[in-house]
Amino acid sequence: MIKLTNVNKVYGKGESSVHALKDVNLELPSGKFIAIVGKSGSGKSTLMNIVGALDSCTSGEVEIDGEVLNSKTANQLADYRNKKIGYIFQSFYLEPTFTVLENVAMPMTIAGVNRKVREEKAMKAIESLNLVDKAHKKASELSGGQKQRVSIARALVFDPDIILADEPTGNLDSQNGQEVIALLQGICDSGKTVLLVTHNIDDARKTDMMVEIKDGVISNIIYNDEETKKAAQHLSDYDENGDLIDKSQDQTQDLPQSSDKSENIDIKKGDGKNIVSDNDKTNDLLSEHIFEKI
Ligand SMILES: Nc1ncnc2c1ncn2[C@@H]1O[C@H](COP(=O)(O)OP(=O)(O)O)[C@@H](O)[C@H]1O
Ligand SMILES: [Mg+2]
Repeated sequence: MIKLTNVNKVYGKGESSVHALKDVNLELPSGKFIAIVGKSGSGKSTLMNIVGALDSCTSGEVEIDGEVLNSKTANQLADYRNKKIGYIFQSFYLEPTFTVLENVAMPMTIAGVNRKVREEKAMKAIESLNLVDKAHKKASELSGGQKQRVSIARALVFDPDIILADEPTGNLDSQNGQEVIALLQGICDSGKTVLLVTHNIDDARKTDMMVEIKDGVISNIIYNDEETKKAAQHLSDYDENGDLIDKSQDQTQDLPQSSDKSENIDIKKGDGKNIVSDNDKTNDLLSEHIFEKI
C-alpha cells in the first residue's frame, strides 16, 4: 500500500514559495490501476515524485508497503528507486545515441549489474514489449510510440512493484496512446500497482480508481471498480499503528451534536481522508466536473 500522511511540499522559500501539496492524506491499495487527475499545476507530478522518491516532502510521512521513506538514507533511497519503482515520463527520457538495448539496460548499468546479466534481462523486457527487431536501433530512429514502449521496457527491467507513469501519452497520437494505456493495464494485471497521471477522461475511466488533486489538496476519489473500492476501504479500517478501528457505530449516521461528545465518534470523520463518491450518478457528474477544468 502507498500511504501518505499529512504530506506537505513547499518549493522555495519566502514570498516566492509554492505550497504544492497541502496536508495530503492518501491510502492507495496495491496491485491496482490508479489515475491521478487534476488541472495543470495542481500537484500531480509533485505527488508522483514524492511517491517515487525523486523528491522528498517538506513535512509528513510517506510509507510504501510498510517502509517509511523519510527515514531512509540516500543509498537506501537509491536502492528503493531502482528495485521498487519503474518510471515512465511524457518525454521518454531516452538517450538518443544509445541503442534500444542500451537504453533499456541503463538502470542496470547504473546499478553496476554485469553486462551479460543486464543484456539478458533487458532483452526479456524488450521481447515483452514486442521490440526485438528494434533492439539494436538507436533510440533517435524510433517513432514516439516505439520510444514510449522502450521507456516502459526500461521501467520493467528490475521487476518493480510500482509503476509511476506521469502523462505517458502526452506526446503520443491517440492510437499509440491507447496502446500505452493497454500496456499499463496489462502491467497492472500482472500484479503491479500502476499510478497514471492523465488528462484523458476515457483513459482515467479505464482505471480502478481516480484521485483528483486540486491546488495541492486531494479533492475527490472516485472508484471505477467495486473490488478496488472494498480494498481501499479496508485499508482505512486500520489506524496508523495497524490496529483495527472499531466501526461498530454506523458511519452513515449523523455525527452526535457538540453537546453529546460521545467517545464513540468515528475518528475517521472530518479528517479529510478518503473522500469518496461511490454512486454512479455522482461518479459521472464528478468526472465531468473534474475534466472540464483540466
Ligand atoms: N521545482 C519546482 N520549483 C518551484 N515550484 C515548482 C517546482 N515544481 C513544481 N512547482 C510548482 O508546484 C505546483 C505543482 O506543480 P506540479 O506538481 O508540477 O503540478 P502538475 O503536475 O499537476 O501540473 C505548481 O504551482 C508548480 O509551478
Ligand atoms: Mg505534471
